[in-house]
Amino acid sequence: MTFAYRDGVLCAEAVPLDDIVRAHGTPCYVYSRAAIEQAYAEYAAALAGRDALVCFSVKSNSNLAVLALLARLGAGFDIVSGGELARVLAAGGDARKTVFSGVGKSEAEIVQALEAGILCLNLESEAELERVAAIATRLGRRAPIAFRVNPDVDAKTHPYISTGLKQNKFGVAQEDAERLYRHAASLAAVEVVGIGCHIGSQLTAAAPLIEAATRITALATRLAQAGIRLAHIDLGGGIGIRYRDESPQPIGATIAAMLERLGTQRAKLILDPGRSIVGNAGVLLTRVEYLKPGAAKNFLVVDAAMNDLMRPSLYGAWHEVMPVRAQQAAGAPVYDVVGPVCESADVLAKDRTLAAQPGDLLAIMSAGAYGMAMSSNYNSRPRAAEVMVDGSTAYLVRRRETHESLFALESVPTW
Ligand code: LLP
Repeated sequence: MTFAYRDGVLCAEAVPLDDIVRAHGTPCYVYSRAAIEQAYAEYAAALAGRDALVCFSVKSNSNLAVLALLARLGAGFDIVSGGELARVLAAGGDARKTVFSGVGKSEAEIVQALEAGILCLNLESEAELERVAAIATRLGRRAPIAFRVNPDVDAKTHPYISTGLKQNKFGVAQEDAERLYRHAASLAAVEVVGIGCHIGSQLTAAAPLIEAATRITALATRLAQAGIRLAHIDLGGGIGIRYRDESPQPIGATIAAMLERLGTQRAKLILDPGRSIVGNAGVLLTRVEYLKPGAAKNFLVVDAAMNDLMRPSLYGAWHEVMPVRAQQAAGAPVYDVVGPVCESADVLAKDRTLAAQPGDLLAIMSAGAYGMAMSSNYNSRPRAAEVMVDGSTAYLVRRRETHESLFALESVPTW
């Protein structure tokens, strides 16, 4: 266990979390190097012996230390913006192992990606193909492309993070794919290298992923028959993690089933997991400010808020809350754990039995994915610090923002 109690104190690997707070304060994200390596190793083991590439989904956690660690393990990256590409390169990642998805790539982002030597642009519309071809022509380059195909599979997850249905904005329709591929193959400025899909996130059942693999493989086979041979098949991310009582299908078994569906396809398999690599490798530390008992509800007011961790407010997501110093919770009050932000939605956890007192530290668990990455400065709150633990050492990998940094880019006109 990466996060476990030792002598009554919750630790990340061998480091007590209250030591980290003494050095860096709260709110503070803490990641475990070992947990990230272990999750990556599960992917590597499941793909051993197969031509494959794990492209870590940068949007889930884009801290340079996390990216550098994964780059060193041999990972590629899945990006959705020029900013993410810049991060990958700054962290020592390889553009030739990086795939670029997203429905709205700008001219500047396409130029940046082609000049960096990106492995593949995952195109999401016909209009984007035209734009990419025009830019590549202008630059005198061939743009490596794939289409992200929407396989119309229900991922059976939260509607906000379901992406593979016809009504979602992502990808091109299966029915249009063959026509688009033929058109792309006829353009000198693009090189058709692959096909991609991503049906959604936090999938706890393997069946939708396997169904998507089946449909995409069938399409790749039809394209090969039409003379369009693909170097890779990208089946996206999406494997879920345990937040509360979910029992997600193990990574190894899910991948084994996907590989079976790929059958004799020789193409390289690309996967772009985010959450399943970093989700359970991170916690958010916060301090209790006030107890606020009430007639209808008891509130535990803490110093982290929805601007630090947005998932509970946005999706009603559940994150376990654990006291940093082990406590007997039996008989303790039931609280909503809330932050200081001026929104009723600023709830980090609902209905938790906690014996906490003002000044106590709490760890909000499973916060390594889409935590810091989705944070904001709302209410002019400086973003949290980030720490990476490696064995018995804690490294500060992002300083806490300061009040000055909040408005460093602003200026007042000289009216
Ligand atoms: N590939 C593509 C093309 C994606 O759009 C995504 C995530 C991934 C891979 C990584 O998916 P994962 O393995 O992490 O499930 N903010 C939401 C999740 C949004 C996911 C967006 N796309 C949350 O906090 O649950």
